[in-house]
Amino acid sequence: MNATSRPTPQVLVLGAVADSQLERLRRSCAVDQVAHADVLRPVGRRLLERADGLLVTGQYPVDVRLLEAAPRVRVVSLRAVGHDSVDLLECARRGVQVCNTPGVLDAAVAELTVLLILALARRLPEHLISTADAVRPQVTLGRDMVGRTLGIVGMGRIGKRVAQIAAQGLGMHVLHTTRREPAEEGSGWVSMDELLARADVISLHLPLTDATRHFVGARELKLMKQGAILVNASRAGLVDTEALADSLNQAHLYGAALDVTAQEWIPVDHPLRRAPNVVLTPHLGSATEETRTAMAEMAVSNLLLALRGDPPLSVVSA
Ligand code: DGY
Repeated sequence: MNATSRPTPQVLVLGAVADSQLERLRRSCAVDQVAHADVLRPVGRRLLERADGLLVTGQYPVDVRLLEAAPRVRVVSLRAVGHDSVDLLECARRGVQVCNTPGVLDAAVAELTVLLILALARRLPEHLISTADAVRPQVTLGRDMVGRTLGIVGMGRIGKRVAQIAAQGLGMHVLHTTRREPAEEGSGWVSMDELLARADVISLHLPLTDATRHFVGARELKLMKQGAILVNASRAGLVDTEALADSLNQAHLYGAALDVTAQEWIPVDHPLRRAPNVVLTPHLGSATEETRTAMAEMAVSNLLLALRGDPPLSVVSA
C-alpha cells in the first residue's frame, strides 16, 4: 500500500452467494463468509468485528445486536428488496448505509403469485398425488379464473406485473387499492373496503411497516366476499394468520396461500396447517436461478460502490 492508496476493505457475506459473486468481491476486498446460524456465535463475532461491509442474504435481522458486534461496518448490502428485517433508524444513527435490490425480482415474485392463485382455484393441495398414495384422490371441481375479479393491494412494480399477467394472460378484471387515490380516473382504483367486497381473489403487495402489520385481520377477512381467495407473497405480518385460519375453517374463504410467514416458518401446530385449501410455501418469491443471480449481482455492485464512496444503485433510508 502506498501513501495514497486505501486499505483493502474487509467484507463479510452472511449466508451463501454464487462463487462468481464472491470472485467479484475478492477482486477488491478481503472476503469472509459465515452461515446464518453462526453469525452471533464466537466464530461469526470474530468476523463481524473486522468487517467494513456486510452482504446479507435472506431475512437475517440487521438489528442492534448485529450492529453492536460489527463496530467498523459502514455499509449493509441486502440481497433482497424487502428491508423490514433491518433496524433502519439504528443504521442511520451509526452512519451505516443500507442498500437493496429492487426491480430485478419483480417478474419472479409476480409469477409465483399467479401460480398460487391458480393452485388455489384448482384446489391443488387436496389433489397432489404423493409417491406413497395407492388410492386415486377424489376430484373436487375447481374454478375458472377467466372473468373473475382480482384485487391488488399495493400497486407497485410487482403488483402491476401481477395485474398485467392476470388481465392479459388469464382474462381477469383487475381492481387495485393504494394508500392514495391516483389522479387519473378509470385506473381501477377502489378503496380497500370496496376491494374487499368486490374481489374474488385478493393479492397483497405491500411492504411491512407499523401501518401495514395485520393489514388483513378479522375485520378485513369478514368484509371479503364469501368464497374469495387470499394470496400473500409479499411480507409476513401483513395477515393475521389465526384470523385467516378461522375464516377458512368457517368456509368463508375458498382458499389462502402464504409464501411468507413469521420467522420464515409456520409452527407445525398452527391452525392454518389444518385449514382447508391452504398452500404454504417457504418464501419462494425470488427463488429462481436467474433472479437470485441478478439479486446477488446487484447486491455485490451496491456493496462495492458504497465501499469506495460512490453512490450505490439503490439505497434504503429510515
Ligand atoms: C425480498 O427480496 O425481499 C424478497 O422477499 C425475497 O424473496
